[in-house]
Amino acid sequence: MSIRIGDVAPNFQAKTSIGDIDFYEYLGDSWGVLFSHPADYTPVCTTELGRTAALKDEFSKRNVKVLALSVDSATSHQGWIKDINETQNTDVDFPIIADEDKKIADMYDMIHPNASETLTVRSLFVISPDKKVKLMITYPASTGRNFNEVLRVIDSLQLTAKYSVATPADWADGDDVIVMNSIKTEDIPEKFPKGHKVIKPYLRTTPQPNK
Ligand code: BEZ
Repeated sequence: MSIRIGDVAPNFQAKTSIGDIDFYEYLGDSWGVLFSHPADYTPVCTTELGRTAALKDEFSKRNVKVLALSVDSATSHQGWIKDINETQNTDVDFPIIADEDKKIADMYDMIHPNASETLTVRSLFVISPDKKVKLMITYPASTGRNFNEVLRVIDSLQLTAKYSVATPADWADGDDVIVMNSIKTEDIPEKFPKGHKVIKPYLRTTPQPNK
């Protein structure tokens, strides 16, 4: 089954490194990041999970719960977590799903057979509190993800969910944003009182409204 942006993220029950969970119950009203790892006891994955643990405060500031997945067992995950904590100087306390039967990997299309018949690629999904898929990124096994970029996109998703704005290329939290074309130029001052620039009729910017 293929999942696309805007789809409802399918629910599932799973064994994890912290016990059995129901995905929706685990997320509650939070945003979610679900991300897959090709295998336990592998170097790139070790750094990614360490980095995610180190960013715990950044994720909680944004009301985001994280869940990792690999197709190894919960016992394997628990042993590997000790190594991650030792080598990355972290405390991995978020669940790592033990998807031994690949049920969730298949559901979320995380196995790309021309890359590997058995291992997941590095898929990452951001899920909003209404359980919709808001972001999908896919990296190959050999390239670790950029978690600053994941946080940057979450900032954009949360901002654009609240205001009629979009974020330009390389935008970072605090930069000017683009006013959506659904807002008439004459209506901008009322909606965005901090000021605006009309660069072209279709390209209007304003200071970030929630700063
Ligand atoms: C890694 O996490 O280092 C890795 C996993 C599978 C294939 C290549 C690298």
